[in-house]
Amino acid sequence: MIVEMQWIAISQIERLNVLFPIWLCVAGGVLICLGWPTVLMGQESVTLPASNDLEEVYQACVLCHGTKEMQRGPILDGLPAWYIERQLSKFASGLRGQQEENRSALLMIPVVQQYSDPRLWAKLAKRFESLPKPDHIKTIRGNPSQGKLLFAICASCHGPRAQGNLTINAPPLNVQEDWYLMDQLRKFKMDWRGSDPEDVEGNLMRNIAKIYSINDLKDIVAYIVRMEKDVEANNSDALKEGVVAEPER
Ligand code: HEC
Ligand code: HEC
Repeated sequence: MIVEMQWIAISQIERLNVLFPIWLCVAGGVLICLGWPTVLMGQESVTLPASNDLEEVYQACVLCHGTKEMQRGPILDGLPAWYIERQLSKFASGLRGQQEENRSALLMIPVVQQYSDPRLWAKLAKRFESLPKPDHIKTIRGNPSQGKLLFAICASCHGPRAQGNLTINAPPLNVQEDWYLMDQLRKFKMDWRGSDPEDVEGNLMRNIAKIYSINDLKDIVAYIVRMEKDVEANNSDALKEGVVAEPER
């Protein structure tokens, strides 16, 4: 049950457009439809329950991170708890999500303001970690064979199967959807993520992303999301698979 409502206005969110409040109306009931007027004034309203109850907060997370409603953020199911907690603490301390141009990351700021207790983050993170990684639709067109060659450098930190490496805080790359991997790589390249001097890992990743062209990165991502298969054998199929338009972000 939503005990109290807290209104959070996030201005200038371009791509998270008019559909957002309509969808919240459906998801959250009549009260949330009050968000309409602010939308017409060029603002968005997101409602987060003022509660520290794990289930209620989890439901608020999956408004954006779920697979059922209109998806706004990455699917977190199956990501390791340590990485989820670490990113929440980066959003909270301002190491991530401060660039105005990075509108989707701005969405996480009111979330960590509302839910600022690291003990709650730990519980949420465990909850997401325990969920099976869903099968994802592939949307990025790239050449996986080429990507396999380029992936060698990524593997030095993210592991040969892209399984991640806790000792250097490198997340797995074999859990997220391909569009999200590509989206974040673009953001590293454009200094939209990892540009705070105190964000050591972000800085590292930003410098690495800059070495590669967008096409190289697409090849790498195409390889990552297909690496469980025999890449050589599936290469021709894989190239044909980009049926869904790559989202513009
Ligand atoms: C209003 C939508 C919204 C809500 C609500 C929301 N998130 Fe997010 N979250 C996002 C978006 C969008 C991103 C991607 C940000 C980017 O592009 O950098 C994100 C990113 C993240 C990331 C980083 C993922 C990664 O792979 O780097 C974590 C972790 C996260 N959110 C956890 C949560 C948790 C836990 C909650 C609930 C307490 C939550 N989010 C609620 C929209 C939301
Ligand atoms: C020197 C170690 C290192 C190398 C090499 C490296 N990474 Fe990373 N990568 C990291 C770390 C550490 C992070 C976590 C950054 C953070 O905390 O924000 C990361 C984050 C990422 C993310 C964000 C994941 C998410 O869920 O948001 C992507 C995507 C990524 N790396 C892809 C790559 C690719 C592709 C390559 C090869 C071109 C690569 N990385 C090479 C260390 C590395």
